[in-house]
Order: sequence, then structure tokens, then C-alpha cells
Amino acid sequence: MQTLTVELGDRAYPIHIGPGLLDRADLVLPHLIQKRAVIVTNTTVGPLYLERLAKTLREAGVQVDSIVLPDGEVYKNWETLNLIFDGLLTQRAERKTTLIALGGGVIGDLTGFAAACYQRGMPFIQIPTTLLAQVDSSVGGKTGINHPLGKNMIGAFYQPQLVLADTETLNTLPERELSAGLAEVIKYGLIRDLPFLEWLEANMGALMARDTAALTYAIHRSCQNKADVVAADERESGQRALLNLGHTFGHAIETGMGYGNWLHGEGVSAGTMLAADLSCRMGLISAADVDRIAALFRRVGLPVVAPDLGYDAYMDYMGVDKKVEAGRIRFVLFQKLGEAFVSGDYDPDALRATLTEAVSKY
Ligand code: NAD
Ligand code: GLY
Repeated sequence: MQTLTVELGDRAYPIHIGPGLLDRADLVLPHLIQKRAVIVTNTTVGPLYLERLAKTLREAGVQVDSIVLPDGEVYKNWETLNLIFDGLLTQRAERKTTLIALGGGVIGDLTGFAAACYQRGMPFIQIPTTLLAQVDSSVGGKTGINHPLGKNMIGAFYQPQLVLADTETLNTLPERELSAGLAEVIKYGLIRDLPFLEWLEANMGALMARDTAALTYAIHRSCQNKADVVAADERESGQRALLNLGHTFGHAIETGMGYGNWLHGEGVSAGTMLAADLSCRMGLISAADVDRIAALFRRVGLPVVAPDLGYDAYMDYMGVDKKVEAGRIRFVLFQKLGEAFVSGDYDPDALRATLTEAVSKY
């Protein structure tokens, strides 16, 4: 097992990464205020891992209840959030009961937001079971839900007590979901870690084949990158926005195509290619750089051409992005490979060209 820490003073917390962690009550117990936990999961992950985790905790003397939600991005909304509150109230969960998110980013975001709200805040633990959740969404305390008009627009910053990434759970992950997770892994290389990007180019085959050592290394390095950024800028007043590379375009794609049709990682991949195309049109990076990024995404089986939603629709969706300031959309652009920056100072003609020429009908 490998451990790293998100350094947030008295709210610092560990991320444990390794095989078989669902069986390790000793890692969870120090973080429980009372010996009581409610596990939130969904109809896909529940049958795979809920009983195993519940047994681990029960054998350690913890009272365990569970809430099983429907599965899908389309359920990351108020109605499903309310199902968590229904369960917590029915089970008489208390303010010191710990809420545990067992699942991918959808479960993690919903559960974290519920934990931030229930009785004005109860402790919670992230047990991510997708690659995307293990490298990104379970770390850093962004929680929330979607709105029909905009992705992740309702939520709270609320840090977990602990992140437990059991790498064995990735063995049951569908291929398409593994690829979607790799989009966020590649992101870290692109925005701030060129040596990691080069490592990914050399080791993508091993990652796709789910080689344990390669996956563990990639998860650890991704979490280290994320933990560093979050420790420096928890509330996204500056550099944390870099973690949104491709997301301004990507969220528009996810919303415009209907939640769940394009996976989050797929939106990030195609969205990153739009950010690269815009950066290239603005003379920041070369066409060869753009090709190099596309080649890596292609190897993972991720989309590199964004859907043609229409210029106006893209602008409408991106107009409700969380990075908008004084009505101006801000993008994460490339300074060079391995170095990104946030800017509202883009060339509008270049943006129009990107959104009309670098897209395709799907
Ligand atoms: P997801 O939660 O929808 O999980 C993907 C699918 O895999 C689901 O069907 C799920 O039930 C299934 N699954 C999960 N674990 C499994 C396992 N071990 N074996 C088999 N199937 C399994 O999607 P995701 O990609 O994990 O997360 C995407 C969400 O995360 C998006 O809503 C996105 O906005 C959010 N996100 C949040 C942050 C953040 O900082 N909070 C960061 C990135 C993404
Ligand atoms: N996934 C972006 C962030 O956590 O800031």
C-alpha cells in the first residue's frame, strides 16, 4: 500500500492506494467519530463490493447501514440527493455518523454533497472504485450535482476524512470507463508534469492492460499532482482551475449531448483537443504538439474530435461555466506541453474557428 497526504492543516487527510483495502478496517476505524457508518453506493457497485465492505466494518464493531442509488450520470441531481437524505433520516443517522461513498465519481460527488448538507455537515470517507474517481474526483473536496442547464453547477467544497483507493476494484471496471479515467490521468501530465506525460506515452500499453504496478504508479502520481494543487489552492482562486483543462468544452459536450451519453472522461478528451486547437490557432503550441496529444488520447480509445453542437450552443453552455468572471468565459490553454494557464484573453475569431472547424457531426 502507498499513502500520501492532502496537506490542508487540521483538515489534512490520507489517500491510501493499494490492493485489498476494502478488507482493511484498521485504515477506516481511526477516522470514525462514532462506530457508525452509512455506505452510499449504486445498483452496479453495490452487488460487487457493498457486502464485502460492510462485513469488514461490522466485524470491527461498526454499525453499518446502506443506501443504494440508481446508477448513472443522469441521476446526479436533486432527486437522487434527496434519496440520500431520505435514507439518513429513516435510519436516524446522527451528525457524528460517517457517510461512506463507495463507487465512481457520481456516487462520490453526490455523497460528499449530502455529507456537507446533512445536519449542516457530517464526516465522510471516499472509497472510489473507478480509475477516474481514484485519480481525481475522490480527492480535493469538490462535491455536487448537475443542473439541466449546467454540469456540476450546484455543490460545496467539503473535504473527506480519508480516501481509500482499492486498486483491485478496477478489475471489474468496463473498458470504456478505464479509458475515461485515463483522460484525467493524461490531464496531469499535460498541465504540470511533462515527465509524467512522457512516462504515460511509454507505458500506456501496460495501463490499458491493467498492469497493477503501472496502474498503482499512475494513480499515485496523479493523486500527488492533485494533492499538491489542492493544498496550494483549495477553493480555486488560482492554479486549481488548471485541473479543468478541457472541462469548459467538455462540460458543454456532456450537457449538450445529454448527461451520460458522453462519459465525463470522453468530454474531457475531446474538450482538451479543442483547447489544444485554440492554443495552436493562437500561436501558443505547434500543430505537432496538437498531434502528439491526439495520438495519446487515440491510443486509449478516447474521442479526439468534439461533436458539432453549433457555435451558439457551445457559447451558451460555456457561459455558465464556473470559471466565468464578469461574464467572460475563461479557458485553460497550453503555454506548452506540460504547462497550462488560465486565460479570458483569447482571440474570439480563433475560438469561433475552433468551435466550427475542429468539430464533427456525430
Ligand atoms: P461513474 O461514477 O458514473 O462510474 C462509471 C460507471 O462505472 C458507473 O456505471 C458505475 O456504476 C460503474 N462502476 C464504478 N465502479 C465500478 C467497478 N469497480 N466495477 C464495475 N463498474 C463500476 O463515473 P466516473 O467516471 O467515476 O465519475 C464521473 C463523475 O465524476 C462525473 O459526474 C464528473 O463530473 C465527476 N468528477 C468530479 C470531480 C471532482 O473533483 N469532484 C473530478 C472529476 C470528475
Ligand atoms: N476536477 C477538478 C478539481 O478538482 O478541481
